[in-house]
Amino acid sequence: MIDIVKTTPYDDQKMGTAGLRRKSQVVSQPNYFENFVQSIFNVINPTGKTYVIGGDGRFYNEIAIQKLIKMAAANGVKKLIVGQNGYLSTPASSNIILKNHTDGGFVLTASHNPGGPNGDFGIKFATETGGQCSNTISNKIFEQTQNITEYKILRIDDIKLDTLGIQKIGDMTLEVIDPIKDYVLMMQNIFDFSAIKKLFANGFTMCFDAMNAVTGPYAIEIFENILGATRGSVRNSTPKPDFGGLHPDPNLVYAKDLVDIMFSDNAPDFGAANDGDGDRNMILGKKFFVSPSDNLAILTDNYALIPGYKNGIYGVAKSMATSTAVARVAEAHKIGYYEVPTGWKYFVNLMDSKRITFCGEESFGAGSSHIREKDGIWAVLFWLNILAVTGKSVEQITREHWQKYNRSYYLRFDFDGIPTDIANDLMQNLEQKLPSLNNTIHGSFKIRLAEVFTYNDPVDNSSTTNGIRILMEDGSRIVFRLSGTSSSGATLRVYLEKLEKNNLNATPRDMVDELLKIAMEIAEIEKRTGKKQADIIT
Ligand code: G1P
Ligand code: ZN
Repeated sequence: MIDIVKTTPYDDQKMGTAGLRRKSQVVSQPNYFENFVQSIFNVINPTGKTYVIGGDGRFYNEIAIQKLIKMAAANGVKKLIVGQNGYLSTPASSNIILKNHTDGGFVLTASHNPGGPNGDFGIKFATETGGQCSNTISNKIFEQTQNITEYKILRIDDIKLDTLGIQKIGDMTLEVIDPIKDYVLMMQNIFDFSAIKKLFANGFTMCFDAMNAVTGPYAIEIFENILGATRGSVRNSTPKPDFGGLHPDPNLVYAKDLVDIMFSDNAPDFGAANDGDGDRNMILGKKFFVSPSDNLAILTDNYALIPGYKNGIYGVAKSMATSTAVARVAEAHKIGYYEVPTGWKYFVNLMDSKRITFCGEESFGAGSSHIREKDGIWAVLFWLNILAVTGKSVEQITREHWQKYNRSYYLRFDFDGIPTDIANDLMQNLEQKLPSLNNTIHGSFKIRLAEVFTYNDPVDNSSTTNGIRILMEDGSRIVFRLSGTSSSGATLRVYLEKLEKNNLNATPRDMVDELLKIAMEIAEIEKRTGKKQADIIT
């Protein structure tokens, strides 16, 4: 029986950089999740359509997925494809949307944010492109959330999601699928699995940290079962609702255990971690860290070593805040190059129109047009493939890269928990100052151009502004933007890049120090926020 439930709007349901992301306690308020889902259905008209659903297994995933299934059935959805037990990584979901030509999908995740009753929960909505919906759609959904008066739900017992196969939920078909199988097939079609198998057979060692999140079972299957990495190469491999208390963000701060292993004297040859929903990656060698911006540049430079790309790639794109390392690679290879606002959705049009094959962000995300999301395990396999074919180490590959292309020393400084009005004022004040900054000298830097970044999408001609960039005459940069994923308050992100041609062995922190001082000063960070230093540096 379909229940029509009366409800009233919540005013905070606007999607950010990656869907709707809020505290678990906010999402579990009465009708909060239902309002948001019904608003999506009101916009997309789901009658007769097919969607993919799954999540990263975090707290509230189990409850939310039941609600979503019952609401889909009540709203006339023809078929749902759901990962067994409600699990699907973000990249696996994108693959299933594309492979089955479905009308879109829902991933229940707050990505790399902590989970649990005091952590975060979130919902990403993808269209038939396999990528997250555009701003136009998310604005329409927000409008619906502000006017919602009722939602539809099927009044039935909870549905069992542990057995593979097809069942009927009212008039709707529900297919429970293996969340891993299709993903593995896709990876086997891109990478040289036999070369990587040989690498492991010859004693190569790795440590993959799944951070108690969704990629554990994918990683065990691919790295240990198929490729032959020693048992135990994958750590924290069982997904847990609170990620075992970990903050499942693969960076030097939150993946500290892995970093300690990789910087110890008996470190394995290769280390990597993924985030909560499996779209982010961090790459490490023995006592060596590859910055995400360098990662994108190195993968792009080595595309020809990978079977799936050996016939050439269209081009590459990065988020504006990401370092310019990949721009120099694109120039050398004479391939297309694009800079977009932060958020994976901006890459989708470029991939669909065959302008790019690869894309990436400084925030530990890289991917290619095999799907329409970033892909953590893809990046790890890409490195394993490079290492298997070249016989070189991670450090060797990276150092040779710097020698060839110069080095962009790069760090991101996050100032967290700023009251929203103070953060907005800071950005506004900085924006007003921009014209007066052009051609001014600050220590050893001269500002060539200070501007609000504007992206004109070459495909749909939409125009989006995102952050402020200060470009120095020597190729160095300072970028300021406010996060679009914080679940409470505002986070100011300051991205610093120092381009260096000769001094290739310094530490990034030393190299960006002068830029940090300039950034603090021109944005009046301490005066406005009271913060003398960043909360997190990645
Ligand atoms: C952050 C990252 C961005 C990424 C997004 C979703 O967004 O900076 O690169 O696409 O998470 O993973 P932000 O909080 O900066 O808006
Ligand atoms: Zn993620």
